[in-house]
Amino acid sequence: AQRNFFVGGNWKMNGNKESLEELISTLNTASLHDQTEVVCGAPSIYLDFARCMLDLRIGVAAQNCYNVAKGAFTGEISPAMIKDCGAEWVILGHSERRHVFGESDELIGQKVAHALESDLSVIACIGEKLEEREAGTTEEVVYAQTQVISENVSDWGKVVLAYEPVWAIGTGKTASPEQAQEVHEKLRAWLRSNVSDDVADSVRIIYGGSVTAGNCRELASQNDVDGFLVGGASLKPEFIEIINARA
Ligand code: G3H
Repeated sequence: AQRNFFVGGNWKMNGNKESLEELISTLNTASLHDQTEVVCGAPSIYLDFARCMLDLRIGVAAQNCYNVAKGAFTGEISPAMIKDCGAEWVILGHSERRHVFGESDELIGQKVAHALESDLSVIACIGEKLEEREAGTTEEVVYAQTQVISENVSDWGKVVLAYEPVWAIGTGKTASPEQAQEVHEKLRAWLRSNVSDDVADSVRIIYGGSVTAGNCRELASQNDVDGFLVGGASLKPEFIEIINARA
């Protein structure tokens, strides 16, 4: 199956209007492969700003949302609000949400269900910690995370699965192309056994963790690597080289 390449930039809690305006104007004027889907994950307070400034060929994602539409949840934002700002995507289950803010699989599952019901598309993140990889439990961990996400997916056409090994995030220790391919291939096999052939063939499985202009091409050449979720490098002009990684 031919899956369109997907590259997400996760700005995390970085930037201000001045620096983001500069980044956005670099992206808007860049030559981007037209078969590649590009989405930028903006801090919630800049969602509206990002959507107003970014060229429409680039999507906008929130980096999190809550699991209900509205109510007394101080500090949270809902999928409805994200959509109201014109953004189309939300990143859910990022390792920083899981491990810095203590989000459980259950809460992430509820967020996935509600975001999809609200007609947002979802970049659903999974990935093992270093101690889990060293203990040989990578598969068990990512299958369990994927299972909970899967139970909450009403439309796989609106989901991108992001494999982000926690030990590779922000560390400069990128997974090797073989390590990434191995997990992506297993995740696709998991989808084949537990969801359907069609979903296994069509869902984009993207890699995240210290992706740079220097390592993106070899990673992109792997059969089951359908794109990237990029943190640090998405704030720099090299993000364009990463977008254009697939030959
Ligand atoms: O969401 C992006 C990932 O956390 C990767 O971040 O590219 O800075 O390692 P990084």
